[in-house]
Amino acid sequence: NWEMGDFISEKIEEIRNIVGNAQVIAALSGGVDSTVASLLVHRAIGDRLHCFFIDHGLLRLGEREEVENNLRALGLPLKVVDASELFLERLKGVEDPEEKRKIIGNTFIEVFEREAKGVERAEFLLQGTLYPDVVESAGIKGSAKIKTHHNVGGLPQRMHLKLIEPFRELFKDEVREIGKLLGIPKEILGRHPFPGPGLAIRIIGEVNREDLEILKKADRIFIEELKKNGFYDRIWQAFAVLLPIRSVGVMGDVRTYEKVIALRAVESTDGMTADWYRFPYDFLDHVMRRIINEVRGVGRVVYDVSSKPPSTIEWE
Ligand code: XMP
Repeated sequence: NWEMGDFISEKIEEIRNIVGNAQVIAALSGGVDSTVASLLVHRAIGDRLHCFFIDHGLLRLGEREEVENNLRALGLPLKVVDASELFLERLKGVEDPEEKRKIIGNTFIEVFEREAKGVERAEFLLQGTLYPDVVESAGIKGSAKIKTHHNVGGLPQRMHLKLIEPFRELFKDEVREIGKLLGIPKEILGRHPFPGPGLAIRIIGEVNREDLEILKKADRIFIEELKKNGFYDRIWQAFAVLLPIRSVGVMGDVRTYEKVIALRAVESTDGMTADWYRFPYDFLDHVMRRIINEVRGVGRVVYDVSSKPPSTIEWE
């Protein structure tokens, strides 16, 4: 695809001109957008790019290690920061989704700012903002807060940083194409989108460690089965949600009263509209059995058949 090839060489040239001799900082999530953006800028200015991966304790099972390995394998200059204690502490007792987002967003900025201060002559902040993010932040969804993490809040102004957003005009499939041309492995480019606030908005209500463990295990089983059965790449996003209710069941001749996991899987091209994925019943049955057998504390599994609109992709 020579069009995207041209885009890459033009952007690299442009980034070199804009940045000059200054340093650039970036907060990476391990997702497609920030990874491709960082590799592009790394091609342009080398180790004057400083990447930070902040672990907020709301990642999926094994995700921190996986992301760290991926990013290091790409040669990106990376610092990993474990701030999970701080995030979980601040989320204690908080139930409202927007309140959770606000706390996570602010804490993220605080931690990132502290780290970034160690970089001398940091004048630019790199962000993997896509066109749909620009549109959604402009208020089509009615709230700029939906994407707290995509525009690290007031950080650029506070630290007098200028923004570099090479993908502002692009859609995700175009960014994946660029990533492919830059030599990023398929497993990274095919990763489903994952929201900045992470599992905090997939535990409905208050977040605590015990529920995080339950959700991580259930989510891992679902994703593992999606990959094993060839569904993962046909789906835009799939995940488990932990509901704030208990439900009655029977195990042997004992009555149980345990938590409920909802499974969500959608097809979409840009996340702005979405349709629930039609799995074969046998697949859902298999995943349900594995989750209830293997994840202690879960007694019921349901599948979400809502489309967007009127529902959103996430539950919170
Ligand atoms: P919704 O749930 O609004 O999600 O249909 C659309 C896409 O955005 C992601 N999402 C978020 N991403 N911070 C993010 O960085 C957030 O607060 C947030 N909320 C939703 C969601 O996973 C989906 O891909």
